[in-house]
Amino acid sequence: MKKKTSRRKFLQQSTLVSAGLVGYGMSTAGQTGSRRFSTKPALLGGQPIRSKAWPQWPMWTPDDEALVVKVLRSGKWSRGEVVKEFEFQWAKQIGTKRALATVNGTSALITALTQMDVGGGDEVILPAYTFIATLTAVLATGAMPVFADVDPDTFQIDPRSIKEKITDRTRVIVPVHIAGLPADMKNILSLASDRKLLVLEDACQAWLAEIDNQKVGSFGQAGCFSFQNSKNIPIGEGGAVVSNDDQLMDRCFSYHNFGLPYQTAGGRPGAKLRLTEYQAAIGLAQLQRLDEQTTLRNKNAAYLQKLLLDIKGIKPYRLYDNVTRAAFHLFPFRYDKNAFAGLPRATFIKALSAEGIPCSSGYAPLNKVNMLGNTFQTKNYRKMYSAAELNEQQWEERNQCAVSERLCLEEAVWFQQNLLLTGKEDMQEIAAAILKIQQHAGDLKRQVD
Ligand SMILES: Cc1ncc(COP(=O)(O)O)c(C=O)c1O
Repeated sequence: MKKKTSRRKFLQQSTLVSAGLVGYGMSTAGQTGSRRFSTKPALLGGQPIRSKAWPQWPMWTPDDEALVVKVLRSGKWSRGEVVKEFEFQWAKQIGTKRALATVNGTSALITALTQMDVGGGDEVILPAYTFIATLTAVLATGAMPVFADVDPDTFQIDPRSIKEKITDRTRVIVPVHIAGLPADMKNILSLASDRKLLVLEDACQAWLAEIDNQKVGSFGQAGCFSFQNSKNIPIGEGGAVVSNDDQLMDRCFSYHNFGLPYQTAGGRPGAKLRLTEYQAAIGLAQLQRLDEQTTLRNKNAAYLQKLLLDIKGIKPYRLYDNVTRAAFHLFPFRYDKNAFAGLPRATFIKALSAEGIPCSSGYAPLNKVNMLGNTFQTKNYRKMYSAAELNEQQWEERNQCAVSERLCLEEAVWFQQNLLLTGKEDMQEIAAAILKIQQHAGDLKRQVD
């Protein structure tokens, strides 16, 4: 045991030295190296490790402005040629036959699900560890959401849990490439094909992420993306459905355009979910930077992952072996308070933020949100499902997801993607700040909690 600790200390020390962090006043022996930084945690009045600002997000340039002004001066602001160009370019990026732009990622998911003919009486399997919009989309169709648990190392939906949740009523699996890290598509697709289920990828955080050099969003029957303000390709609001299935895409087009007939699709119930020309112009401008920024995020994430792997009690994300690129909308890791003198995660987050490293605890457990109970009380759900199916206690029992709950309530910590648009030294500052908190975890616990 003793041996292990000293090896860990040695590794930390050597990582710090090789990362040049000893100069930050950081050393696992607790020595003060430099005068530049106080070793006292910033939350307790010390000097923060980092005072420099992180890259602002979203970014834009005069070129973006020119494209928007061009649309303004054209007087053609509603869906037209600029949206079509954006769709063409997006399909090209993802490697699908078609793309359809919609007003946001949520509406893209609703469009795809309804046009895959998902509705009342169907079950849709989704991960418990995702943004609420994945659930919103399932409930909008009238289907019953069934939560699968996630793999704690990758944060992604666990195919073993999906398998346990499949019933005769399951129609669609919705893997979410959460944080922009690809889900285990190989096993999900093989499960879906064995059980004759459809797959809709929620790639709303995973622009240009790849498995075996194929872009995510192109593996299932359809994939959906978001271009909301915080996203790696931000438009403000915006979304897209992609697919190789022409008939499905015709139906999606029809649905997003009042349900009017479109090519092979006859008239149908629909909505109006069309992107504007301004939004598409911003999207085209942002697209110019996406590939280069994605490469930079991957480079910095891999380096930071290496640094954090050496810190006891910090477990950064793991990528599946066949992942050739991730999007890194987030850099997620797990925090074990036992390696930090029992310091609660919330205080760790406050302390790290005070050091100039913004971070958050991420999602709350989605399988516990009260909108589910309220949804089950609606007229539509009461007409479509039996009292037993709408029994909340039974539903909760079936939808327990222990790993996701642990991530949400105790372990997960996220960095936003803009922290990765920097360089090696910035990654070293993140690691230094975490080590500084670890060294002073006892003081922090005594004085803050
Ligand atoms: C995983 C996931 N699904 C769906 C959405 C919905 O996208 P939007 O906010 O564009 O509606 C988001 C975006 O926030 C998301 O992160």
